[in-house]
Amino acid sequence: MIPTPLQPLAELSKLQEQVLLPFFVKLSRVPEQLLINVGVESATDMEPAFFAIYEKCRDYTLKPFKEMYALYEAAAFVAKAGIEGDFVECGVWKGGSSMIVAQTFLQLNRTDKKLYLCDTYEGMPEVTDHDEDIGANPFQLVKGVATMLRGGHTGLFYAPIEEVRRNMESTGYPQENVLFVKGLVENTIPAQAPEQISLLHLDSDLYQSTYHELTHLFPRLTRGGVLVIDDYGSWKGSKQATDQYFAEQGIQMLLKHVGSSGARLGIKT
Ligand SMILES: C[S@@+](CC[C@H](N)C(=O)[O-])C[C@H]1O[C@@H](n2cnc3c(N)ncnc32)[C@H](O)[C@@H]1O
Repeated sequence: MIPTPLQPLAELSKLQEQVLLPFFVKLSRVPEQLLINVGVESATDMEPAFFAIYEKCRDYTLKPFKEMYALYEAAAFVAKAGIEGDFVECGVWKGGSSMIVAQTFLQLNRTDKKLYLCDTYEGMPEVTDHDEDIGANPFQLVKGVATMLRGGHTGLFYAPIEEVRRNMESTGYPQENVLFVKGLVENTIPAQAPEQISLLHLDSDLYQSTYHELTHLFPRLTRGGVLVIDDYGSWKGSKQATDQYFAEQGIQMLLKHVGSSGARLGIKT
């Protein structure tokens, strides 16, 4: 069961969502944007189409610029290479990451792919002892502070399903192919997940959910399909769950570092 926020802290929750979080979302983008603007970070090889898409999604995601580009590249790759299977995102928040995938598929005329958006749509569940924030990025910091303030219950990243639906509608992607899977992934997956996945984006932060997602969804990822683990380098439990899963299965997987937030990306061989 998903705990409801404690009453006296409701105002604090509002402050987090309406003021602190948007502030940190903007703040987190500054360094990379700045590096690109001053020419330290090269963006000259990035497709102009990406920038147009990114502009439409940037306010609905926690992902910094480079991580969004990696997702764009992954979606374009599976679409162009004809990798069979749908897109699954675990941990959706406002939908920005799913929006960039939707827009990329749309641009490449691959709207036949279904998009599965799995989230509680009620914010984060409780963390366990496995879960320690090891990221130095500002989101992780504000999230960690908020977690402490709320006595272990974050209630953070609350984005109701109606809001995410509106955001997804704004992409122009055929809505009959956007599926909202509501509830803890531990309850909804694998029953409500597709049989074949071409792009799997895990962004639910925590040990239990990440381990559950990998256990049930990695076997459904098509060979040549792409796995993105957003929190590998920023949440201890995410890394632990990933390393544990691949070690137990005896799978060698190159998980390439992308961007500066600790996200990893690999192709299933
Ligand atoms: C960091 S946010 C996702 C950010 C999003 N992918 C983006 O691009 O900005 C984490 C999300 O994971 C969801 N979440 C965490 N644990 C979950 C679980 N066990 N089941 C379902 N959703 C979960 C939260 O509700 C929250 O929306």
